[in-house]
Parts: sequence; C-alpha cells; structure tokens
Amino acid sequence: MSFDIVKQFDSPAWLAEISEKLDRKMTFGAEKARDKDYIPYTTENGDWAKSGITWWTNGFWPAGMWQMYLMTGKALYRQAACRAEEMLDEALRDFKSLHHDVGFMWLISAGVHWALEKDEKSFDRALFAAGTLAARYNPNGFLRAWNGDGKEGWAIVDCMMNLSLLYWASNVTGDPRYRLIAMRHADTTLREFVRPDGSCNHIVIFDPVTGEHLEHPAGQGAYSGSSWSRGQAWGLYGFTLSYLNTGKAEYLDAAKRIANYFISQIADDFIPRCDFRQPAEPDIRDNAAGNIAACGLLELSRAVPESEAPMYYRAAVSILKAQEARCADWSEAQPAIFTKCTASYSNGHHITMNYADYYFIEAVNKLRGEKLLFWRPYPVSH
Ligand code: GLY
Repeated sequence: MSFDIVKQFDSPAWLAEISEKLDRKMTFGAEKARDKDYIPYTTENGDWAKSGITWWTNGFWPAGMWQMYLMTGKALYRQAACRAEEMLDEALRDFKSLHHDVGFMWLISAGVHWALEKDEKSFDRALFAAGTLAARYNPNGFLRAWNGDGKEGWAIVDCMMNLSLLYWASNVTGDPRYRLIAMRHADTTLREFVRPDGSCNHIVIFDPVTGEHLEHPAGQGAYSGSSWSRGQAWGLYGFTLSYLNTGKAEYLDAAKRIANYFISQIADDFIPRCDFRQPAEPDIRDNAAGNIAACGLLELSRAVPESEAPMYYRAAVSILKAQEARCADWSEAQPAIFTKCTASYSNGHHITMNYADYYFIEAVNKLRGEKLLFWRPYPVSH
C-alpha cells in the first residue's frame, strides 16, 4: 500500500476554494489566448506576451488546459488544448530547431491527448518527438541539451524530466532502445550532476568525443558550484519519475537525497530562493521551483515506504499553501497566476511563467485524486 495523498489531505475547504479560483483564472487566461497566434508563456502589460513556436515551454499551456478539463469537464479547456497541440505542428516540422525539451512540449500535450482519447495523430506527434530526443543521444552516455556550435557536449539537469518521453515511447512501442537511452542519461546525471549533499549542478559540459567531464558552469544559477533551485526541482521530480518507470532503487535514493536537500533549504518560508546559495540580497525567488518540487514531493511520498512519506508530503503541502498565499495573483489584472518566478539568477527579476502555474494545477489535481500522471500518459479510466 502506498501513502494516500488524497485521504491525508486535511484542508478540503482550501482545495475547493483553490479549484474555484483556478477555474476562474484559467478561463480568463484561455479566453485571452483564444485569438492569439502563439502559445502563452509569460505576460506583459496585462496580457500574454508573444513567444516563438519552438520555445521549450509550449507544452505546458495545453497540459494546463487538459488538467483544467479533467478538473471541470469544460469544453473551453479541451478546445484550447487541442488548438495549441495543432499549433505545435509548426515546431515539429522545424525539427532542426528543436532541442531536448521535446518531452516538455509533446508528452504532456499530445501524449496526454492520446491517453485520454486515443487520438492517433497525437500518438504520432509524441512518438516523432521521442525519436528526435533519442537522436540527441551521445554514446558517451548523455543527451545533448541545446543546439549551437560548441554545445555538442552540454547536458543539463532539467533533461531528467524529458526522459519521461523516452520511457513512454518504449512502453507504447515495445522497443527498449528509448528506455535504455533514458537510463544511460539518468546514470550519467546521477554520477556527474548530483553532489553528495543532494544539491546538483545545472550544466555539465562533457568532451563530446571522449565523454570527459570538462566543467560545470553556473548556468541559470548564481555561480559554478551553486544550487539553482529549479534545477534541484527538475532533478527531484525527474529521478522520481525515472524510478517509477524503471524500479531502479538508485533513482529513488537520488530523488530522496535531492528532496532532503531541497526541504532543508526552504524551511524558513517554503518559497524557494532562485538559487539556494545566492547572496542574501537581492531576495530573488522562484515559484516555478516550488511548484515543480511540490509535484515531485507528492509523487515521491507515494513511492517511498509509508513510514518515510509524511515528511515529503507535508513539505509539498506547505510549499503549495505558502506560495499560493504570498505569490498568487487571482485578479484579472493579468492572465498568469504566480508572480515570483525567475528565468535565471543573472536575469535577476520576477516574472510570470506558464509552467509555475501548470505545476500548481498538476499538484492541486493530484490532491483532488486525479489518476492520470501526465508524465506517464497511459489510458486510465475516469
Ligand atoms: N528548463 C529551463 C528552465 O527551467 O528554465
């Protein structure tokens, strides 16, 4: 028996209130997005700001729409999810511009559409995306993250979340190659990124020919050797998902190690700093890191032995409640919810980001008992 996160949740009034607020705000956001020729990512001047079609966050909008559809049954959300998925075909055609974030883009959009409705076109999109991710594999044991000359040996911890697309592809095709690539990359990440204290590098640059670990720059964190909180969250949730997909105990241990570190860094107010090792000033936070970690912690609490679960579960709930209370904008002044997100430490200022909102909705739906895990989209009966 795994820990029951739904039965354990002792604030049904909070959940009901938040679900209602989400429905109001996401309807507002979806109506604002209806006539746009791009997919919402961030906001400016009270509206969605324009972003390009290959931008890595473009799966989170349709995924959020599917989450809201499952929460409410409202057709508006389904239509918005399908429209965005079709818009993304332009990015699939421009596959040379694609990067390792095709998991974020197609698993939780097209993959979820397939899981819910057995849509064959959606299946093809997700499988094509898995092929492009597998093609980024360097036989030295890592997936290349980004494009551009000189980046042939760059791998990043965020990629742990994209591995879910490869596990899915092996499961739906019966071909183990995708899963084997994912596990090689996870093994490399565990060895080269995760430090003994549970903190992680954001980027590791390998020699693309020999596989030698050359350097680990600051990336989106404060400095080399620092601890970018969103990177820790990607690792936490990503290793949890690798464990769920493979049963490999080392991945569960890695997820616990990163989670223990993450929890130790947020206990003051449960709103993660952008980098856990940043100077005291400026006080830059990252709601995305918090909401991603909360989702990972909820899944982790279901994966560990029941006696270990409450610590992870309580941390997740504390993050969600604290971030909602102090950083959520439920007004119609602008269409996004979470206001204290940061693109990177060096970027230095707070913005809104569609995936901070997405992971909050995912977490709320988990607490409501939603059975479909979007990162493992297989048909489930609702
Ligand atoms: N995966 C890029 C980021 O988290 O900003």
